[in-house]
This record gives sequence, C-alpha cells and structure tokens, in this order.
Amino acid sequence: MRPRGAVLADPVLDRMLHSQDEIAERVAELGAAISEDYRGQEVALVTVLRGGLIFLADLCRRVDVPVTLDFMAISSYAGGGGAVRITKDLDDPIEGRHVLVVEDIVDTGLTLHYLLKMLRQRRPATLEVCTLLDKDARRIADLPLRYRGFACPDRFVVGYGLDLGGRFRNLPFIATLKDEVMG
Ligand code: IMP
Repeated sequence: MRPRGAVLADPVLDRMLHSQDEIAERVAELGAAISEDYRGQEVALVTVLRGGLIFLADLCRRVDVPVTLDFMAISSYAGGGGAVRITKDLDDPIEGRHVLVVEDIVDTGLTLHYLLKMLRQRRPATLEVCTLLDKDARRIADLPLRYRGFACPDRFVVGYGLDLGGRFRNLPFIATLKDEVMG
C-alpha cells in the first residue's frame, strides 16, 4: 500500500495526505471514543450527502452503542454567505434524541453553522459534530467540533468521499490536488 506522502499516478493528484490504513486506524479511535461517551444511549448519526457517506459507513461499524442512520442533502445559495437550503430532509424526527452530525470536512464552517442552527430548532437532547477533517485555517464560524479525525492543511483535498466536480469520492485514501488544478 502506498504510504503517506507518496506521489500519485493521476495527473491532477499531488500527494497522499492520509493512507487507507491511517484513516482506518483513526476511524476506529473515533468510534471507540463515541462508544465510550454515549454508553447506555442510542445515537442518531446524521450525515450530509454526499461527501459524508463513506466516512459514515466506516465510522458506524466502529461504534458499539445502538445507532440510527439518517441523511440530509443541502445546497448553498449563491452568494448566500453560507446559507443553505435543504434539498433532502431527514426522514425521522430528532426531538429528544442524541444527535451526532457526521461530516467529511469542515472548512469555513458556514455550512455546518447553518445546519446546526436548523437542527437545534428541532430540540434534540444533545447535538454534537464528528468531522473527519478539520481545515481550521479558513474557519469563519466558531463551531463546537466534539470529534475530529485529522487537522487538514489549507489545501483542496479529495478522496474518501471528498470530490472535485463529482470525481474522486471513491479513492480509498485522501490526497491533495496539484496547485495548478485549483488555479
Ligand atoms: P464550509 O461551509 O466552508 O465549511 O464548506 C464545507 C463543504 O465544502 C464541505 O462539506 C465540502 O463539501 C466542501 N469542501 C471544503 N473543502 C473541501 C476540500 O478540500 N475538498 C472537497 N470538498 C471541500
């Protein structure tokens, strides 16, 4: 398996940031921490499509308290300062439940800020966030990230659910893009 830092064959990819093994190890640690913190309770794992799907699929199998899975899809308003519109809502109510939002990456934090505000209005018992990547150099909204997989450099990254124009979500590792691709 290619190690962290390996140069990748695809012409738009730069280097491997997190290998498949490294991700699996970190996801197991996050799953263990979540299981510990929610012992004796049931957790509603809520994920934003589509990027969070791969992380959720691995994470939920590393959590050993009862979980339910539910999905939302959102789209940003152009020039909306991060305001989002729900294009697919959760199927189940979350009132009185322990909700953990599972995110692939938090960048400026604006999307998550709006999402949390919407979810809070539904009066869950608790509302926390687990993100795989935390790109905190660009953070605008101050957010409580209870669980975080890796700190992410201020680069565009793809793989393990993260895309560039719909591509690369299926890479089993996370890679940076070459600077010239992003302009
Ligand atoms: P935020 O509102 O700036 O935090 O943006 C969050 C969303 O932007 C994420 O859910 C991703 O869809 C997307 N995003 C931010 N950075 C990256 C990246 O490096 N690669 C892929 N998508 C990204």
